[in-house]
Amino acid sequence: MKPERRPACNQFSSGPCAKRPGWSLGALGEAVIGRSHRSKLGKARLQEVIELSRRVLGVPADYRIAIVPASDTGAVEMALWSLLGPRPVDLLAWESFGDGWVADVLKQLRLPEARRIGAAYGQLPDLGQVDPAHDVVFTWNGTTSGVRVPDGDWISDDRQGLTICDATSAAFAMDLPWRKLDVVTWSWQKVLGGEAAHGMLVLGPRAVERLESYVPPWPMPKLFRMVAGGKLVEGLFEGETINTPSMLAVEDAIDGLKWAESVGGLDGLVARTRANFAAIDRWVAATPWIRFLAEAPATRSTTSVCLVFADDWFRGLTSEAQAKVAKEVAAKLEAEGVALDVGSYRDAPAGLRIWAGATVETADVEALLPWIDWAYGQVRPT
Ligand SMILES: Cc1ncc(COP(=O)(O)O)c(C=O)c1O
Repeated sequence: MKPERRPACNQFSSGPCAKRPGWSLGALGEAVIGRSHRSKLGKARLQEVIELSRRVLGVPADYRIAIVPASDTGAVEMALWSLLGPRPVDLLAWESFGDGWVADVLKQLRLPEARRIGAAYGQLPDLGQVDPAHDVVFTWNGTTSGVRVPDGDWISDDRQGLTICDATSAAFAMDLPWRKLDVVTWSWQKVLGGEAAHGMLVLGPRAVERLESYVPPWPMPKLFRMVAGGKLVEGLFEGETINTPSMLAVEDAIDGLKWAESVGGLDGLVARTRANFAAIDRWVAATPWIRFLAEAPATRSTTSVCLVFADDWFRGLTSEAQAKVAKEVAAKLEAEGVALDVGSYRDAPAGLRIWAGATVETADVEALLPWIDWAYGQVRPT
């Protein structure tokens, strides 16, 4: 039997994520378009993104925040290319995005003293292996496996190396211990449902010190350059940008940040996300044929919730057949108009991935879950 209730919003994609409740194109009515982003008005809008981000996230006053090109990838690569080299590097990877950064450092930068500390999908690597004398690169929330670091307790307060954290599906949904993090990045189209285009790059004082004291031996494209004459380009952290930003995307980012404040700031966003996750968690506990891909409860992402089918029938299938089943389930949900884009990521084990970040309403998550019961029942032989 098909459930009677449908989610009011069927957008559960893990990026670009659902717009905030009540969003319409009208939210962009005041956008500074057809004007220079360097005009007083344009620059003020860019500064507003920086200031609101600082306020909502509680970024310390001595940490700098920039809007940079090319989304989260741009922000991470800017950091890797600009900072790595003087120390050995520990690269943590447990899913596709973390492994992307490993490939960058090993195959592109070709740093001789870099090591991958990895784990299979569903697990976290042994964080105890991270050497505080080394730089470390990691994702806070592995979007493709739904595994996140539970906290920052494994990061030494007395570290000599830098911590470079890709926090794109964590920022605004999870508490980040800023003093443990020297570089933090995210993009706009995740937890606040903004538009893809630009990345956010946060630099702590130790990262700035590295930038001003170390010159990488490789060429630096203009898009990555944050230093001129051995000094940080401060304008970049005051609303100037390296190249031209989309002022429509900027306006939308401001809209998302103002909405964030209206629901109680970071605490409100975290609470909304946790309530969404809790709804899924209750359903998983009551449903014998599904489980979280993330094995340890403390590592389960509350935003990109990855689920795998767990009954004997499914586990007895080849991996190709499993992928086919998972795709069929996602396709049925989409055909019914109850959930869009909930198939697992292409490199991840076959299953479902449900975005549960702050822009998603808990009532919609609750309305979706009985539909997954229905869709899996349709695909599984009786
Ligand atoms: C953890 C993580 N890192 C990096 C990216 C890439 O982000 P972008 O497309 O904003 O560059 C994503 C996108 O989903 C992600 O989830």
